[in-house]
Amino acid sequence: MGKISAFLLSSLCLAFITQLDANVIRDNDAEPIPIVCYFGAWAFYHEIDRFDITDIKPAAHLCTHINYGFAKLNETTYEMQVFDENYDIGKSGYDRFIALKKEVNPKLKLMISLGGWYEGSEKYSDMVTNTEMRQKFVKSAVAFLEKYKFDGLDLDWEYPGNRGGAVTDKDNYTKLLQELRAALGTKYLLTAALSPGKATIDAAYNVPELNKLLDWGNLMTYDYHGGFDDYIGHNAPLYSRPDETPELEKKLGQHYRDFNIEYTVAYYEKLGLSKDKMIMGVPFYGRAWSLKTPELHHLHDPVKGMSKPGKISNESGVFGYNEICTMNKASDWHEEEDYYYKAPYAYTNEFFVGFDNERSIQCKVAYMKSLGLKGAMVWSLEFDDFKSHCGDGRQYPLLKKVHAMLNGDQRDDKDCPIGGLIPTVAPTTHTPAPTKPTESPIPTTTQDLVDHYCSLDGFMPDFNDKHKFYQCENIGPHQWRLTLQPCPGDEVWHQELKRCEND
Ligand SMILES: *[C@@H]1O[C@H](CO)[C@@H](O)[C@H](O)[C@H]1NC(C)=O
Ligand SMILES: *[C@@H]1O[C@H](CO)[C@@H](O)[C@H](O)[C@H]1NC(C)=O
Ligand SMILES: *[C@@H]1O[C@H](CO)[C@@H](O)[C@H](O)[C@H]1NC(C)=O
Repeated sequence: MGKISAFLLSSLCLAFITQLDANVIRDNDAEPIPIVCYFGAWAFYHEIDRFDITDIKPAAHLCTHINYGFAKLNETTYEMQVFDENYDIGKSGYDRFIALKKEVNPKLKLMISLGGWYEGSEKYSDMVTNTEMRQKFVKSAVAFLEKYKFDGLDLDWEYPGNRGGAVTDKDNYTKLLQELRAALGTKYLLTAALSPGKATIDAAYNVPELNKLLDWGNLMTYDYHGGFDDYIGHNAPLYSRPDETPELEKKLGQHYRDFNIEYTVAYYEKLGLSKDKMIMGVPFYGRAWSLKTPELHHLHDPVKGMSKPGKISNESGVFGYNEICTMNKASDWHEEEDYYYKAPYAYTNEFFVGFDNERSIQCKVAYMKSLGLKGAMVWSLEFDDFKSHCGDGRQYPLLKKVHAMLNGDQRDDKDCPIGGLIPTVAPTTHTPAPTKPTESPIPTTTQDLVDHYCSLDGFMPDFNDKHKFYQCENIGPHQWRLTLQPCPGDEVWHQELKRCEND
């Protein structure tokens, strides 16, 4: 009896203290909601709107963390190393980055990201297979953080068990994280950029272990659709559309019901990533196609192909917001918002781009807040209007929106201006039931075999037509191409032979 009342009393006190603490923290604003900002150091080489470390200064009190993209893995020594000696060291990229803390915002955490899309997956897969090589890497990573004074390591291996990685990557990646966490302790942050795609996730991550070992995961909730697809879509849909049925997916050979932010977040939660470990990605760029004809400008219409490179990004099919916001002066520019994607798209007679702006970013952050996720991540600073070209005289309008919604004057605003958020319905009726994380990483449906991201050199069958096959090629250091090709005459594609033959 006495025990019980003592327990009640202490839990009452605890509740009171917790309440008090919460109020104090809120009033003092001591604990802002994390806003993790990436930047790509190669933007220093952009011929238009070159982005340098000094351009981060206006953003340095809007972000709580900034990730420097990227460092790389040495393919022979398996040690972490500087990516671009010329910029990172020669032009004092690292030193000037670290100096932002002293010069602009002492609370800022400054991290180094290792990897990225163009690093590929294979050398990481090789490194993790063996204890000695992992140890060597871990040692080099700790030395790297110490030498250059970063606050933590963000792992951006894209992706374990994919793009030439091995089936054993999933377990060996977990081992690597265990060893990194042990070596970094609590002195350094350890985070990872995580794929948004179900099939990739299944092959790559032991999610409960990630949940234990990482300070948080940066969910790359974008790149769902782009010029690598044969049909018009959106880079970062918040929800899927009701017309995106299994029949449509089969007809177009596309993922829709599991290629949207709602699905990705729910799937990670289901697999065991807790909400306080989820940082949700918000893109500051769009992905674009060249149209087949001016009339074929609707969602799900077939396209001619990936659009030309953005003038600023110099990357095929990729347009930063800083470029998109100046394109609406074209006389044939039409801009619309999609109620389900909660995002804008635009088309001309030749071109379609699905992108994000202040309104859609408000929706995405409102969604993130409605779920109680840990924070937001942005890709990336150099795509925001950091030069104030968009016409209203403000720098970093998109980042300012994210900041306002989380830590600024809109922090209590739960509104999505594009028709409001859609109440989440039970995943069993709205989205396909996710498979168990322990299941074999071998794709279970035929469609999963077609790698529409074109992330691995090779050939894949076309399940809609046995007389055709897909080829994915690396066509340069920054370019991959997916093409659908016909077999000659009556020949059919034989996946096991990787060639066309008579049936
Ligand atoms: C774009 O990138 C290519 C290399 O991929 C380079 O040769 C060219 O100069 C770049 N153009 C611009 C405008 O940055
Ligand atoms: C990898 O490390 C070795 C030994 O330090 C070095 O000689 C080589 O240039 C490095 N590779 C790359 C691509 O930097
Ligand atoms: C790591 O990879 C190697 C080589 O593929 C494999 O032999 C080993 O079993 C893997 N370890 C784990 C824990 O999966």
